[in-house]
Amino acid sequence: MQIVKVNNYEEMSEKAADLVTGLINQSKKSVLGLATGSTPEKLYDILVERNIRKEISFQQVKTFNLDEYVGLGENDLNSYRYYMNEKLFHKVDIEMENTYIPNGLATSLDKECERYEQEIQKAGTIDLQLLGLGLNGHIGFNEPGSSFNSRTHVTQLDQSTIEANARFFKTPEDVPTKVITMGIGTIMKAKQILLLVQGEKKAEILKKAIEGEVTEHIPASILQRHSNVTLITDISI
Ligand code: GLP
Repeated sequence: MQIVKVNNYEEMSEKAADLVTGLINQSKKSVLGLATGSTPEKLYDILVERNIRKEISFQQVKTFNLDEYVGLGENDLNSYRYYMNEKLFHKVDIEMENTYIPNGLATSLDKECERYEQEIQKAGTIDLQLLGLGLNGHIGFNEPGSSFNSRTHVTQLDQSTIEANARFFKTPEDVPTKVITMGIGTIMKAKQILLLVQGEKKAEILKKAIEGEVTEHIPASILQRHSNVTLITDISI
């Protein structure tokens, strides 16, 4: 794992943007795996600015997001489709049909998971998968205990994740309990992984994930077994 220590959130986001920019400029048809949450917000702002300045183009880029809440559609302010449209897709030159996010409103969720997994396979491989880290060590919405071999699937959120994500909703009761997430097996197939972790409150879980035992109790610990991971963090390891 390559660890890049930065001083703050801005620097982390700039460095992450440089990595994404380099990749897309090298291969215009790159396939990106994207994440939501607070962590990548600034990264997306920077990519938008660079796109406006024509330093980067998403015209031939394909994207696959990690996860989506079941029951929330694109017009719901808390859906990850809404988040991605607002923060990135509607502001850059990407073709909307090249932006994939699991459909949380699908009538058959199992079929939706299968379809999503097939779309990823059709795209070939994810060149760069962006990841944040949950306070309990989750990646995507793969909560502690998730199988390392899992593919895109429907799952239940941990109570701690519901509480952590309640800040985006009116009340904790409004946080959906069910989600669709890319599996850990799917994530691990990406050629390269970019893990962004910011803030002291994640120091303990980050250390466990990158230095501790590789265990399904800490989903992010599997990243120790991936051959091309870059961690950008302001936490001193
Ligand atoms: C969320 C998302 C993850 C995200 C993580 C950390 O629940 N499903 O993809 O990386 O939790 O979120 P944040 O960046 O807001 O700390």
